[in-house]
Amino acid sequence: MTSPCTFVIFGATGNLSRIKLLPALYNLDKAGRLPDGMCILGFGRREWDHTQWCKYVEEILRKRTATVFDEDVFARFSTRLKFFSGDLEEIEAYRRLRESIEADSDCPANIVFYMSVQPSIYGDVARRLGDVGLNQDEAGWRRLVIEKPFGYDTESAQVLEGHLHRYFAENQIFRIDHYLGKAMVQNVLVFRFANLMMEPLWNRNFIDHVQITHSETQGISGRAAFYDDVGAMRDMLQSHLLQMLTLVAMEPPASLDADSLRDEKVKVLKSIRPIPRNAVHAHAFRAQYTGGMIDNDKAAGYLEEPDVPQHSTTETYASMKLYIDNWRWRNVPFYLRTGKRMAKNSSAIGIRFKHPPQQLFRKTQIEQLKPNWIVLGIQPQECMRLEIQAKEPGLELRTQTTQLDAAYCGTVTNQLEAYEDLLLDILEDDCSLFLRYDEIRWAWEVVDPILKVWTTERDFINTYPAGSWGPQEDIRLFDRDDQLWRNSFFDVD
Ligand code: BG6
Repeated sequence: MTSPCTFVIFGATGNLSRIKLLPALYNLDKAGRLPDGMCILGFGRREWDHTQWCKYVEEILRKRTATVFDEDVFARFSTRLKFFSGDLEEIEAYRRLRESIEADSDCPANIVFYMSVQPSIYGDVARRLGDVGLNQDEAGWRRLVIEKPFGYDTESAQVLEGHLHRYFAENQIFRIDHYLGKAMVQNVLVFRFANLMMEPLWNRNFIDHVQITHSETQGISGRAAFYDDVGAMRDMLQSHLLQMLTLVAMEPPASLDADSLRDEKVKVLKSIRPIPRNAVHAHAFRAQYTGGMIDNDKAAGYLEEPDVPQHSTTETYASMKLYIDNWRWRNVPFYLRTGKRMAKNSSAIGIRFKHPPQQLFRKTQIEQLKPNWIVLGIQPQECMRLEIQAKEPGLELRTQTTQLDAAYCGTVTNQLEAYEDLLLDILEDDCSLFLRYDEIRWAWEVVDPILKVWTTERDFINTYPAGSWGPQEDIRLFDRDDQLWRNSFFDVD
């Protein structure tokens, strides 16, 4: 049974806390998964009392929770809520925090500190926790949860890592990538390693290329202060999309324990062919959204969003082409892209197979054979789909693309989000779905050369209209004319 803890959210009124953390904690409570006596302590600057905090949380949950808001559950949940008013930059606030937790019999001695704050202050917060002794596993355990991006590049990630380790031991640090909590991301491993028929085909002999897309219709949701420093490459590609790539490309691990899995993921990242400075433009593309229409509504351009600097060239769309130089994948391109304010919300992995070696049907009505695809839909459609060619009914020998869908493929989405799963793992001290530092470090090594070049090119950025599938120009990343982004994996193109 999970032991009760005090769950401290630094940045309790921020975007992440509102959109993901508080709804996930509520959903866990609803599902009966939070231990009795667990308390949730929001740390923020506002001078709020318990009633104001509860009211704020209730409003969020009424708007956000995927499952229906339940008065009884909220009545229980609100007894767990506490608010602590303080300034993260003042050591005094941490002293008071410690005293107030120790003095309050409703606050269990085990503590989770969740960094839902600007990444630039992760190190300072950890230091101040250390300075007041809140890092010490004495009366109870202490766990520190770090959101991405972990650093801004290889060097700053290394500095942050050194900093954290001055105050916290490795077993206290949980580096979160919430994509690893998504059911379908975990399913990539099951699909590959629980089905014998996949393995013989899963390599350079049969696979033409792999593409991974994450597109969102939403913009930066008022997060300019965070986003304008970070951009799409650091926000999504370096973390979530590279993690998905490692799961598609890794060798079978020795077992499913945390280190065996991470060892294999690191091997993939280390095998990615480094991108030389003069090849950055052939391997990566960035762009920013301008005004447009999304679902018949007008959407403002990035530069018109509140608090975005007037001449910002931060990318809201980023794509790249990578090669993994190992026996399995040599010369198979992996295309990755992500963008905000795009035409649809969709995350999916597409694996395109090569054409059959013989054009047996050349003299028939078949003009051009379409290749096989495997599509792993991550969200909103959770899906495992195989696209094959079959004969059209009728006298002519014509083909059509047919889909073999896994039974639960469709529009039913998982009501519980990834955060629920991962928060529970933190409470249960299970780190298998969290990142080891070397994964992060090698992921930075992959994107660093691109970021370095982009940093020097601050005068111009390509654009795409909000509501589109991104900039046309990035088709230059593709190796051949018959490779292209598949915009909707769930319609046959
Ligand atoms: C976060 C990014 O890590 O992931 C956001 O900071 C992005 O910009 C979000 O919108 C996407 O996550 P999900 O779970 O909504 O696909």
